[in-house]
Amino acid sequence: MIRINENYTKLKASYLFADIARRVTAYTSAHPDRPVIRLGIGDVTEPLPAACVAALHAATDEMGQRATFKGYGPEQGYAFLRELVSQHDYAARGCKVEPDEIFISDGSKCDCGNIQEIFATDTRLAIPDPVYPVYVDTNVMAGRTGPNVDGRYQGILYLDSTASNGYVPAVPSAPADLIYLCFPNNPTGAVATRAQLEAWVAYARRNKAVILFDSAYEAYIRDPDIPHSIYEIEGARDVAIEFRSFSKTAGFTGTRCAYTVVPKTLMASDAAGQPVALHALWNRRQTTKFNGVSYPVQRAAAAVYTDAGQHQTRALTDFYLANAQLIRSAMGALGLKCAGGDNAPYIWIDVGRDSWEFFDLLLDKAQVVCTPGAGFGKCGEGHVRISAFNSRENVQRALERIAAALR
Ligand SMILES: Cc1ncc(COP(=O)(O)O)c(C=O)c1O
Repeated sequence: MIRINENYTKLKASYLFADIARRVTAYTSAHPDRPVIRLGIGDVTEPLPAACVAALHAATDEMGQRATFKGYGPEQGYAFLRELVSQHDYAARGCKVEPDEIFISDGSKCDCGNIQEIFATDTRLAIPDPVYPVYVDTNVMAGRTGPNVDGRYQGILYLDSTASNGYVPAVPSAPADLIYLCFPNNPTGAVATRAQLEAWVAYARRNKAVILFDSAYEAYIRDPDIPHSIYEIEGARDVAIEFRSFSKTAGFTGTRCAYTVVPKTLMASDAAGQPVALHALWNRRQTTKFNGVSYPVQRAAAAVYTDAGQHQTRALTDFYLANAQLIRSAMGALGLKCAGGDNAPYIWIDVGRDSWEFFDLLLDKAQVVCTPGAGFGKCGEGHVRISAFNSRENVQRALERIAAALR
């Protein structure tokens, strides 16, 4: 009989959000009269900006006319969107990223998960803990780790993010080849300073390593001193790939559009030690396995860069950040220590007890769903993540219920 990829059997039994959904479904079936408020999974709640909706309508009309109909587009994305990204997200911040270094995709989850394919199986990994689970699980599937022992996969160099380092891991003394960094961070909401990012770029250059920099939440940065892109750091073009998404910037979680930057100057070596451009490899991967993002969706993403789009997306992120402030101050008033929320839509709360136990307590006593920190890694134990993605009314009601439950 045909055999499976055994690496899948190393994965922890289920995906964190599936576990949460199972417990919530069990609770709501047992208590249909007690509606729950979900501040767990990081999905947005507010509708698409009007500028994006108008662009979607206009592009759909174009698709309905012979003269303007579009079939397959370029796998890398339409030039109109790549040029806007290059200009607005990079040139405007003093970073040099050419339009043809930008690969438009249908999501950062896929890009973060797929990128590991272009690296050798014996690549040494450095991955933060706690972490967005996709980075770890996709490497487990690819056979880059040993089994999971006591909550950690053998073969990964874990970068502990704890209260003692402000949830920003310092560069390790051991070498690694592929480093995953995510700032503003999911789940901790922490941001990295310019000096911290400079240390990581210097580490990568010293070790001839590659940084995979996930900045899916950069639109939430309000502190003017915090870099939005790894390419704001000198020398990063030679050592870093960056992932960005319209999901949390413009409410595109259900619309699907993101992009990945692979600078043409970024090299890795082949088995003979000869340099190979990662840009060429990623281009080969995408043209073979991906057929591009739909034309109307790319037009909707382009609308983010119009004056109206910029105004409306800023209002969206401001709205969620105001929710985050309410959550932070309510947690502070309950005597709980928090990180995040200032430049990120997540609040990372030190609950001083088992994180699943706290999850169950909030569900049972307050009918509020949070995310148990242990689901993001060993260092997440003792914490929960509360997401600011919800209506103001739901956030306020959830906070009142939490306060009553914990008092
Ligand atoms: C850190 C991080 N990266 C990437 C993603 C995925 O984004 P997308 O919706 O573009 O797939 C998420 C979504 O929650 C995320 O938290």
